[in-house]
Amino acid sequence: MCGIFAYHGPKKNAPEMVIEGLKRLEYRGYDSWGVAYKKGGEIHVHKEVGKIGDFDSKNLNFGSSNISLGEVEDQYEISMGHSRWATHGKVTEENAHPHFTEDKNIVIVHNGIFANYLEVKKELEAKGSKFESDTDTEVIAHLINDYCKKHSFEEAVDKTCKRIEGRYAILVMKKDRSCIIAARKGSPLIIGVGKEENEFFIASDIPAFLPYTNQVNYLDDNQLVQIDKTGIKFFDMETNKEIEKRTIEIDWTIEEAEKGDFAHFMIKEITEQKSTLTRAINQDTNIIEEVAEAIKNAENTYFVGCGTAGKVGMVGEYLFANIAKKHVNFCFGSEFSNYKHFLNDKTLMVCISQSGETADTLEAIEIAKERGVTIVAIVNVETSTMARISDMVIPIKAGPEKAVASTKATTSQLAILTLLAYACDGGINKGKQLLINTAAQINDMLNPRYEEYILKIAEKIMHVESMYIIGRGSNYPIALEAAIKLQELSYIHAEGFAGGELKHGPLALISEGTPVISLVPNDENTKEMISNTIEIKSRGGYIIGISPENHEVFDYWISVPDTHESSPIVNIIPIQILAYQLAVLRKNDPDKPRNLAKSVTVK
Ligand code: AGP
Ligand code: GLU
Repeated sequence: MCGIFAYHGPKKNAPEMVIEGLKRLEYRGYDSWGVAYKKGGEIHVHKEVGKIGDFDSKNLNFGSSNISLGEVEDQYEISMGHSRWATHGKVTEENAHPHFTEDKNIVIVHNGIFANYLEVKKELEAKGSKFESDTDTEVIAHLINDYCKKHSFEEAVDKTCKRIEGRYAILVMKKDRSCIIAARKGSPLIIGVGKEENEFFIASDIPAFLPYTNQVNYLDDNQLVQIDKTGIKFFDMETNKEIEKRTIEIDWTIEEAEKGDFAHFMIKEITEQKSTLTRAINQDTNIIEEVAEAIKNAENTYFVGCGTAGKVGMVGEYLFANIAKKHVNFCFGSEFSNYKHFLNDKTLMVCISQSGETADTLEAIEIAKERGVTIVAIVNVETSTMARISDMVIPIKAGPEKAVASTKATTSQLAILTLLAYACDGGINKGKQLLINTAAQINDMLNPRYEEYILKIAEKIMHVESMYIIGRGSNYPIALEAAIKLQELSYIHAEGFAGGELKHGPLALISEGTPVISLVPNDENTKEMISNTIEIKSRGGYIIGISPENHEVFDYWISVPDTHESSPIVNIIPIQILAYQLAVLRKNDPDKPRNLAKSVTVK
C-alpha cells in the first residue's frame, strides 16, 4: 500500500522526476498524493486529493514561497513524494502526505501503520505539539522533531523507529540538512543507484526508477539509510553499526513495466499469458524437484497466501490431493497464527505471492520461522522481502504485474503448483508436457475474436445486481477467485460456491435471470456439475457455461480448451476478460479499483 519515491542527485528537475516516479507506483495507492522539495534552506510541499495519473508536473505549485524549478543553489537536488492508500484518517488534503511539523522543520512520507500512535500523540500534545491531520504519520514527524531537541537528526530518526509498533517504511527530510533519511520495518523500500555521482532513488518498487537505473540496493527490516553529498550509508538499527550493501542488477526492462499500445495494464497482462506460462514452466527443474521432495518429506505442509494468491493455494490443496495423493493444508496468511501449535522443524510452509510484500503473509512467515519451519516462496518479485527471507524460492517469472487485479501471476502460480504436484508424484515430465500443451492452447485462445465474444455477455450482464460462480474440485477455488475478479473490477456483488453447496442454502438467492457462471471441465465432476447447473436453471438462473463442451443447460457458452488437470488455469482466463470488460463498460478504472491497492503491506 502507498507508493514512495525520492530522488537525490545532480539532475535539475527532482520534483518532476518524483511525480513521474509516483505515477509509475500509483497502482500501490491512489487516494491522494504529494511531493516535498528541498530548496534554498526550506522544504516546500505540494499535495492533492485524487489520482496523480493525469497531473502535469508543470502545474506544480509550492504555495506562497513558490520557487522556480531548475535554479539550484545546492549541488544536489532532493525531493520525495507519496501516493496514499489511507489507513488512518479520511481521504483529504490535510491527511495527504508529505506531513510537516508545524515549524516546518521535519517532513515525512510513510507507508504502513504506526500502531501505538495515539499514546505517543497524547504525550506530544502534552508537550505542546499541534496536529493538523488525523494520520498516524504526522505523529512520527512530531516525534522526530521532539527527539531532535536533544539528539542529532540521525539519532532522532533511529529513536523514533524504535518507538513505532507496526510495519512501516519512512522517508524523512529536515529543513537545515541537505540529506534524506529512510528506514524500514516490514514495508518495502529499494534504493536505485543512479548513473551520476551521488545519484540515488528510493522507491517502494523497482519499476518506479527503471527508466534511470537497474542497479539496486535492498533495505532490510530494521535498517536505516542516509543519503547526502558524501554518498550513501546504511545502518543496522539493532546494532547501531554501519553496514555494507551489495549492489544487484535487475533484469526487468522498462517496456515490460509500461502499458505500450494497450488501453490498460490489466488487458496487457491478460494478453501476456500467451507467453508467461511458458516462462514459468521452462525454468530450472532442480528447484521444483527440490521443493517437491521437501513437501514429500515434511510432516505437515501449509500453503499460505492472501486474496487471489490464497485461492491459488487452495487450488494447490486439490492438485496435491488428486495428482500427488498427498495432503497439504491451505491457510490464508491472516489466519495462519491459529496453526501455531502444530508448527515445528519438520513443517514446511509454501508461501504464494505476486509481490512478495503482503504483510499478512510476511507475518505468517515470522510466526513459522520462530518455530523452525522451512519456508518456500513462490513469488513473482524475486527481489522482494518474501523471496529474501525464504529458504527456497521458485520464481514465477511473469514480469512486472501493475494492474491491481492479479491475472498473469495467478496462472503462472497455478502452473508452478501443478508442476510441483506432478513432481511430488514422480512425474515432473508428464506435468511439464501437460503445461506446455496448455500454454500452446492459451496462445490460440487469446485473440480479439474471443474477447469480442465475451464482450457480448459482459454487455448483457453489466447492470445486474448479483452474480454467482460455481465449480467443483480444483475449480471450486477458481469459482472463489472468479468472484474476487468480478467484485474488484465490476463492483457487482459476486460470490463463488462449491457446486454441491447451493442446495444447502444459496439456491434461495437465485431468481429469474440471475447470472450464474458454471465451470464445467471434462473431469470426474462433470456429471455433478451439470446436475447442479440444472438445479440453478430450474430456479430461473441464466447460465454462462465455461467448458470445452457446449452443454444443453448453458444459455451462453464460453469455450475453453480441454486441458485436463490444468483446467483451473484455462477457466480463470475468460473470467479475467469478462471482469475487465465489465469494468470498462461500467466506467470503472480496471487498473485501479476503488478502495484497493496492489501491495497490501498493512495487516
Ligand atoms: C488480486 O486480484 C488482488 N488484488 C489481491 O487479492 C492479491 O492477490 C492479494 O492482495 C495478494 O497479493 P500478493 O500476491 O502480492 O501477495
Ligand atoms: N497510515 C498512513 C496513512 O493513513 C500511511 C498509509 C499508506 O501506507 O499509504 O496516511
